[in-house]
Amino acid sequence: ARNYADDIAAILRLKQERNAVILAHNYQTPEIFHCISDIRGDSLALAREAQRTEERVIVMAGVHFMAETAKLMNPDKTVLIPDSRAGCSLAESITAENVRALKAAYPGVPVVTYVNSSVAVKAETDICCTSGNARKIVESLGVSRVIMIPDEFLARNIQKETGIEMITWPGHCEVHERFTPLEIRQYRRMHPGVVVLAHPECPPEVVAEADYSGSTAGMMEFVAVQQPRKVLLVTECSMSDNLAALNPAVEFVRPCNLCPHMKRITLASIRHALETMQEEVTIPEALFARARLSVERMLAV
Ligand code: 13P
Ligand code: SF4
Repeated sequence: ARNYADDIAAILRLKQERNAVILAHNYQTPEIFHCISDIRGDSLALAREAQRTEERVIVMAGVHFMAETAKLMNPDKTVLIPDSRAGCSLAESITAENVRALKAAYPGVPVVTYVNSSVAVKAETDICCTSGNARKIVESLGVSRVIMIPDEFLARNIQKETGIEMITWPGHCEVHERFTPLEIRQYRRMHPGVVVLAHPECPPEVVAEADYSGSTAGMMEFVAVQQPRKVLLVTECSMSDNLAALNPAVEFVRPCNLCPHMKRITLASIRHALETMQEEVTIPEALFARARLSVERMLAV
């Protein structure tokens, strides 16, 4: 096994030398989340905070679309992704061409795109959203119908909450699509009184079984404030690990689905990124302005 302490000491030293800040998504493993990151959060917080950093270099301990969003908001900074293969099944599910076809089929209907998407898709988008602000963004448009891509389940969950009609795309998160209502009911039987929190990337039938649904930051806040005796987080595994350290009085029941993309980011790959200043995220010039606008509009709501 690698020596975590050695990697951690090297990363802390390299951060200073490189004038770098490490942003970590809530799905990163505890040694990344608790020991070396400067800013932690959900996709929305990472997009916001990326803009406020002073350092010259941003290391994204998260997946590729998060690093792209950080670069869109910080064109003059160096943005590093420790493993460029850290993708996302949602971002992979749709192309710019697919979006153009949807717009042609539904002229005038605004396109709301989940940040879990490529820069090329964002460039075809009116406004982005995350799971933390999807409802607010959709409602801010003041229309009765939107094209909401690429997460079909998020769109259906938001349609249920808002009554706004959604034209969807069959993209799914490979982590959250695997949960089933039966599984949740079985956990409830095994753990009477357990409080169930589900991410809105889960199928609507799963969200219907939960006591609360929200982004990773929403779930974190729920646990921190409510301090349930026993909680079931219907989301990626590392959330329970990270929250358990912060909430010692709460017992975590763990239905564990790993995101293989998030797990490509390790202490070793972060150390390597800082040592070599690789891999640097770049955005094609032709897409930059239009893609950035879709994120700026989101942050302005
Ligand atoms: P949030 O952290 O914004 O809830 O997103 C979850 C996710 O799956 C990110 O890839
Ligand atoms: Fe994409 Fe799902 Fe992994 Fe998040 S957890 S990066 S949405 S595949």
